[in-house]
Amino acid sequence: MAVSTSRLEVPARAADIGVAEDPALDLSLPPKFVSLTENDDPVSSLNQNVLVQGHAKAALRLLPRTSIQTVVTSPPYWSLRDYDVAQQIGCDESLTDYIDEIVDTFEELRRVLRDDGTVWLNIGDAYTSGNRRYRAPDKKNRARAMAMRPPTPEGLKPKDLIGLPWRLAFALQEAGWWLRSEVIWSKPNAHPESVRDRPTKSHETVFLLSKNQDYFYDVDAVRGPNSRRLRTTWDIPTEPRKRVTENLDDHPAIMPATLAERCIALTSRCGDVVLDPYAGSGTTLVAAQCMERRWVGVELKPAFVEQMEQRLFNW
Ligand SMILES: C[S@@+](CC[C@H](N)C(=O)[O-])C[C@H]1O[C@@H](n2cnc3c(N)ncnc32)[C@H](O)[C@@H]1O
Repeated sequence: MAVSTSRLEVPARAADIGVAEDPALDLSLPPKFVSLTENDDPVSSLNQNVLVQGHAKAALRLLPRTSIQTVVTSPPYWSLRDYDVAQQIGCDESLTDYIDEIVDTFEELRRVLRDDGTVWLNIGDAYTSGNRRYRAPDKKNRARAMAMRPPTPEGLKPKDLIGLPWRLAFALQEAGWWLRSEVIWSKPNAHPESVRDRPTKSHETVFLLSKNQDYFYDVDAVRGPNSRRLRTTWDIPTEPRKRVTENLDDHPAIMPATLAERCIALTSRCGDVVLDPYAGSGTTLVAAQCMERRWVGVELKPAFVEQMEQRLFNW
C-alpha cells in the first residue's frame, strides 16, 4: 500500500493546542502530506502516516475522533529510566500521579479509537526503592539510571513488588475500559539479576484493553504451536539494541518487533491505522508499515524522533 509520511511538531503543553472538529476517516481520499506547527490546524484525516514530536496527551488531541483501530504501546515505566527530556512521564515522585497521567492520556486514546478498537499496553512492574534515593547505572544499560528515585509509596514497604501493571489495569477498568486479557511476555534471554532472595524476573505484562464490550479481534491471525489458538504466555526474546547512526543515542528500551507484529495482526486489518503514543524508536510503526497498516507515532524526545525519521521516512 502506497502511503506518504510527514513529520508534525506540536507544543508540549496541551493548553497551547486548539481542539478541532473531528472528521470521519475516509479511506477513499488519496494520501497527502500534512505539515503542522504550533500554529497549524489539527490533523483533519489520517490517510497518510504521521509522526508527532510532542507530549502524548497533547498530540492525541490533534487527531481525528474514531480514526485509530489499534494501539500498541509501552509507556515509560515508573521510576526505571530517565529519558532526559522535559515533561517525560515515569519520573514522577508519586506512583498515583504516574497512574493518573496514563489514565488521563487513555481518555484521549478513547476519543481517537474506533468503537471496535483496542489497546495493547506493555507495562513493567517495579520494586520500591526502600531508602535508596537514586538508581545506580546498569553496566549493560547506562540509561537505566535515575538521579532521584521516588520514595516508597504509601501502604508499601521497602523491597515490596509494587504490582504496578495491575494497579494501572484496575484504574483503567474503573475509568471505563474493558480489560480483556493479561499476556505474559516471557523473555527466554532475560538479563541475570544480582538478587539472592527471589527468582530472577524474566517477564513483563501486556494487557489487551478494549473501548467497548465487542471489538475487532482476528483469532486466526496468529496461531500457537500445533496451530492451537494463541495462549496468554508469549515466549519472545528481547532484541539487541541497534545503532541507527554513529551520531545518535541508541534507544534504551526497544520492544521486540515480534511482539508488536503479533499485536497488530490480532487486532487490525490491512489499511487500518495503528498508533503508538510513546513511539520511542518506532518499533510499532515499522511493524505497522511492514504489515501494510497506516501508522501514527508520538514521541516526546527530539533525538528519538530523528532516529524514527531515518528509519521510516526513507522507506
Ligand atoms: C518504553 S519507551 C517506548 C519504546 C518503544 N516501544 C520502542 O520499541 O522503541 C517510552 C518512550 O516514551 C517517551 N516519552 C516519555 N514521556 C512521554 C510523553 N509524555 N509523551 C510522549 N512520549 C513520551 C520516551 O522518550 C520513550 O522513548
